[in-house]
Amino acid sequence: MTVILRPWTEADLPVLEACNTPEEKKYLGGPETPERLVKRNCDYAHHAVPGETRMFCIDHGGRPAGSIGYWEKDWRGAAVYETGWAVMPQFQGLGIAGKATAALIALLQPEARHRHLHAFPSPLNLASNAICRRAGFVLMGEYDFEFPPGHIMRCNDWRYDLL
Ligand SMILES: CC(C)(COP(=O)(O)OP(=O)(O)OC[C@H]1O[C@@H](n2cnc3c(N)ncnc32)[C@H](O)[C@@H]1OP(=O)(O)O)[C@@H](O)C(=O)NCCC(=O)NCCS
Repeated sequence: MTVILRPWTEADLPVLEACNTPEEKKYLGGPETPERLVKRNCDYAHHAVPGETRMFCIDHGGRPAGSIGYWEKDWRGAAVYETGWAVMPQFQGLGIAGKATAALIALLQPEARHRHLHAFPSPLNLASNAICRRAGFVLMGEYDFEFPPGHIMRCNDWRYDLL
């Protein structure tokens, strides 16, 4: 089945809700409040600027299956892009996130104004680390992040060279 990235719309809120369980958020600081999720959904739908920040619904065979996107970030003195992804539990293990990551890189490359795309999964998040490795990201090291505010999280720093 094909994996297509299409711009996020407000109608995609159920994707965020399905990915907001304790299990799905165990490496991301735990579930968000319903209010925070509605705000996130609105931001994803209405604050897209190509080359700065864009979020996509991962469409799998015509059905919404997850989210992926990129946004700008200052990282160790340089402007870079960060990416993040989630696949709804019933669609996991089908290679969807891997294909979506390859599609995101292909989509970002022609509109990128920064050279590097980073991903920061927990070292314990084996699937996300496998996605980075398979997509051609290079492991740069481990860092502590405050995410969400008040919560320190250990992350791998994976970097992809968009050139
Ligand atoms: C991480 C996540 C997006 C993976 O989605 P997915 O569509 O199931 O992933 P894929 O099927 O594309 O698998 C990607 C790779 O991970 C591997 N993998 C999947 N589950 C795994 C597990 N439990 N342990 C080890 N490897 C695993 C797959 O074998 C594949 O590797 P390969 O390409 O070398 O064979 C999904 O589990 C998720 O949404 N988790 C919750 C949110 C989250 O943690 N997001 C990431 C934040 S950085």
